[in-house]
Amino acid sequence: MQNFEFYSPTEFVFGKGREDECGAYAKKYGAGKVLIHYGSGSAVKSGLIDRVKKSLSDAGIGFVELGGVKPNPRDTLVYQGIELCRKESVDFILAVGGGSVIDSSKAIAIGVPYDGDFWDFYSGKQIEKALPIGVVLTIAAAGSEGSGNSVITKEDGMLKRGTGSDLIRSRFSILDPALTQTLPAYQTACGATDIMAHVFERYFTNTREVEITDRLCEAVLLTMVKETPRVIEDPDNYDARANIMWAGMVAHNNIVGVGRSQDWNSHGLEHELSGLYDVAHGAGLAVMMPAWMEFVHSHDVMRFCQMATRVFGCQMNFEDPETTALEGIRRFREFLHSIGMPINFEELGAKEEDIPTLVDKLGVGDGKRAGFVELTAEDCAEIYRIAAHASL
Ligand code: NZQ
Ligand code: ZN
Repeated sequence: MQNFEFYSPTEFVFGKGREDECGAYAKKYGAGKVLIHYGSGSAVKSGLIDRVKKSLSDAGIGFVELGGVKPNPRDTLVYQGIELCRKESVDFILAVGGGSVIDSSKAIAIGVPYDGDFWDFYSGKQIEKALPIGVVLTIAAAGSEGSGNSVITKEDGMLKRGTGSDLIRSRFSILDPALTQTLPAYQTACGATDIMAHVFERYFTNTREVEITDRLCEAVLLTMVKETPRVIEDPDNYDARANIMWAGMVAHNNIVGVGRSQDWNSHGLEHELSGLYDVAHGAGLAVMMPAWMEFVHSHDVMRFCQMATRVFGCQMNFEDPETTALEGIRRFREFLHSIGMPINFEELGAKEEDIPTLVDKLGVGDGKRAGFVELTAEDCAEIYRIAAHASL
């Protein structure tokens, strides 16, 4: 195992009705005036925004609001948010929504105290200061409620880029599984896919002797394999929703990834897809993750056999381990399809002729992308081609 630091300062507040405490938590973390930031309508329609406003008012906290965050959140709304916060002397951002709303909130939080263009932080500049943020989560997926990351799409060129710092970790995150019961099945499945991908990006490592994190990863994956079909079948299954919601946090606050090298190439390849076609991140991952697995499996066949046998219940073929590895990947793709996810370019709405553009946007040039297996631009093109033609 490698040396590591693990810092996860967010206070998690979990359970039914806990969003009514958001005012008290905002107060606890020093909020004077709050920006309530939310998405394109679901949180208004469900009455959640009204409850959030009441909770803030009850705690004596003033607020302004900015809705309209789209999935794959845009820089254009971030600029509006920064301006509004400055004009209204906002000192705390409350994200009410999913990964897109949280990431947009994080971008506003770093933009307000910065004199330059906030996009600098998505182009490599280190974050030095940020307004504090809090979260009321409405979808189990991105894990942004527990992560120090934010991903924003620049509308000019549809360029999707990320940034990261402990300074943008939420002060508190309220997780009420009941709030996710209004999610359409497709969004639930996209979220589940993203959660599994966050684990796989850590599971496929070149670091040896990482039994504890291997087993933690497998626990989250097994939970997702068991609970996802239950919520697809019965959207009101609170207990299955609760297990998935906590799995989403555990999958991405890095507790399952410490002390080991990680990959993140499936995410990198996917971000170009959701950037170019504006498709859901989880759907893009459903297409890319098994394709990446097929491309790299021969690098460490036994690690793929471990996944196949422990997570997808395959029988180990000791005479021909590769068949076990490939069967595990096949079962993963089959699982994704069974929960309603696309598995190839056509089902996703992507086009094979765009592969050169996707590779170009990745910006690999003559270099290599680091990871479980280092990838050249041609390797990336080949993974996109595998994804384009995948079938069950
Ligand atoms: O905008 P509204 O109307 O709220 O609708 C949203 C949106 O259309 C809807 N939704 C959310 N909660 C709902 C609901 N509909 C009904 N009932 C509810 N309770 O779901 C749709 C998707 O929401 P979004 O926030 O986009 O989903 P998700 O949480 O998957 O976030 C995706 C974004 O997070 C980024 C992705 O790239 C993508 O941009 N990621 C962020 C990460 C991070 N910050 O650590 C890591 C991830 O790997 C990921 O890259
Ligand atoms: Zn993700």
